[in-house]
Amino acid sequence: MSSNTASTAITTAELSAFARDVLHGLSKTPKQLPSMYFYDERGDQLFQDIMHMPEYYLMNCELDIFEQQKAQILNAIGLEHFHLLELGAGDGYKTRVLLRHFMEQSVDFEYQPVDISPNVLLELEQRLREELPELKVHPLPGDYFKVLHEVKETDATPKVVLFLGANIGNYPQERAAAFLRHLQDELNPGDKLLIGFDLKKDPDVILNAYNDPAGITAAFNLNLLERMNRELGANFDVQDFRHWESYNPVTGATRSFLVSKKAQHVFIKALNQSFHFDAWEAINVELSQKYSLPEIESLAREAGFQVEQHFTDDQGYFVDSLWVKA
Ligand code: AVI
Repeated sequence: MSSNTASTAITTAELSAFARDVLHGLSKTPKQLPSMYFYDERGDQLFQDIMHMPEYYLMNCELDIFEQQKAQILNAIGLEHFHLLELGAGDGYKTRVLLRHFMEQSVDFEYQPVDISPNVLLELEQRLREELPELKVHPLPGDYFKVLHEVKETDATPKVVLFLGANIGNYPQERAAAFLRHLQDELNPGDKLLIGFDLKKDPDVILNAYNDPAGITAAFNLNLLERMNRELGANFDVQDFRHWESYNPVTGATRSFLVSKKAQHVFIKALNQSFHFDAWEAINVELSQKYSLPEIESLAREAGFQVEQHFTDDQGYFVDSLWVKA
């Protein structure tokens, strides 16, 4: 069991959101930290590396689906005029395949990437202006739901929302359902959602994607400890922790852990507090949920959507599923 020495004169109101979440997560049993904190500058770079490693099939599968089935996707969208709103657009690498095809087919649409980071959107906009100068781009910086709400209040143009890359898998299933229900509330009847899910498959394939031999995923996860050192003045010795991956073929839960190799105390200056780790005690740092098609269909129903069509890759590893708000 872990016991933490609390000697804090700092009130939680004074802490950054990161510090507050670290305090909360490391005080829990078992310890847990939100995976959204992987993505600082170094984490973004390592994530780019992950997306280009051969073991991380998710990226190539979704790219294949778009390259091979872009015409069928456009056909299934079936709208004359729409706004294509992408949640968490990132660098738009895969989306460009769809954008280019829609333009070649003279579709009347505007691309609206949504991201909390104005910088990400600025870079994406610049790149798209160079590569697809005719594309109408209207970036929407901000929190997904605030943006969606504002759009709903001010613009009745039919929408197609993209939520790609299995990002939904990083939410526990109950939270995924709540997230999608909330999303559905902010849409108008007839609006559509194209959403990516990683499917259940051979456990070895999944474990290899999250436990690559080159150790890139391990470095990505361990960077969370280094981020706490950099930003919160923690004294984690990264050598004293290791990355561990598990996949449960019944539930589809793929979990990443950082495991303490020895009994130790770690001090976090921003919290003025030290945290005890038993030997082999783990911090749960990420869930990457894998789904079956029936599970996806019941999630859609639970969130108030109708499934229109599934687009899977040849191996049946990944699906982009098109839903409509009834
Ligand atoms: C962003 N997300 C969908 C990735 C995933 O597969 O869960 C993050 C990731 N973690 C380790 N590798 C990739």
